[in-house]
Amino acid sequence: MRKPFVAGNWKMNKTIAEARSLVSEMTPILGGITEVEKVLCPPFMAIFPVGALLQGTDIGLGAQNMYWEAKGAFTGEVAPGMVAEFCMYIIVGHSERRTYFSETDETVNKKTAAALSAKLIPIVCVGETLGEYESGRTAEVVSRQIRVGLKDLDPEFAAQCVVAYEPVWAIGTGRASTSENANAVIRDFIRKPLSEMYGEQTGQSVRVLYGGSVTAANAAEFFGQPEIDGALVGGASLKVDEFVAIVQAAAKRA
Ligand code: 13P
Repeated sequence: MRKPFVAGNWKMNKTIAEARSLVSEMTPILGGITEVEKVLCPPFMAIFPVGALLQGTDIGLGAQNMYWEAKGAFTGEVAPGMVAEFCMYIIVGHSERRTYFSETDETVNKKTAAALSAKLIPIVCVGETLGEYESGRTAEVVSRQIRVGLKDLDPEFAAQCVVAYEPVWAIGTGRASTSENANAVIRDFIRKPLSEMYGEQTGQSVRVLYGGSVTAANAAEFFGQPEIDGALVGGASLKVDEFVAIVQAAAKRA
């Protein structure tokens, strides 16, 4: 049985004061929804103050990016062990990082392995662009992102990865995938290659999320699909009512 999982990716939004205010409003309600694993991923500067407010709750904290080296002369980067001091989760390979910061399947693989070594739970993002979708290349792109991005992981820990299927054309566009399409992509191009790489049990036990224009209005439809265990939420995670309603919808899946 896979526990439902909902993470809010705040992206580059919220000052420390704004982050504190958002979290103070959310925690009393979210804390009561115990059926769902809930994670907030604020920008780096807000990690410590948000973490302080989450202490004593069952709401997890995640970062949005990190480097794979343990330490050294890498100006501007943050090491896995530094993230792990405050966080349990780390988003890896988000499409905005791939697009604006030249991340590749190979760097995603290094980060995923480094995250697991640091005892972080990686939330690995995959998904095709609009051009790839329209030219019928979804299968090829998503299965390659899984096969390369998650290759050669310690088999004992591979099942701890969380994967987020985020079609790039659905992110921030208001044009979500259909739930049937997302379910089929997850079944055929995420779970299937994972099963081939790490065994059927791992392929079936990894939590896989959908992301891309998830709202309170459409969340239940995604969570009604057998292969979709939750959501990685962008814009709607910045609004208390929306995010709470999405987590409540996920609880009904439990
Ligand atoms: P939106 O929910 O704003 O479409 O963003 C999705 C996303 O990129 C989450 O990582």
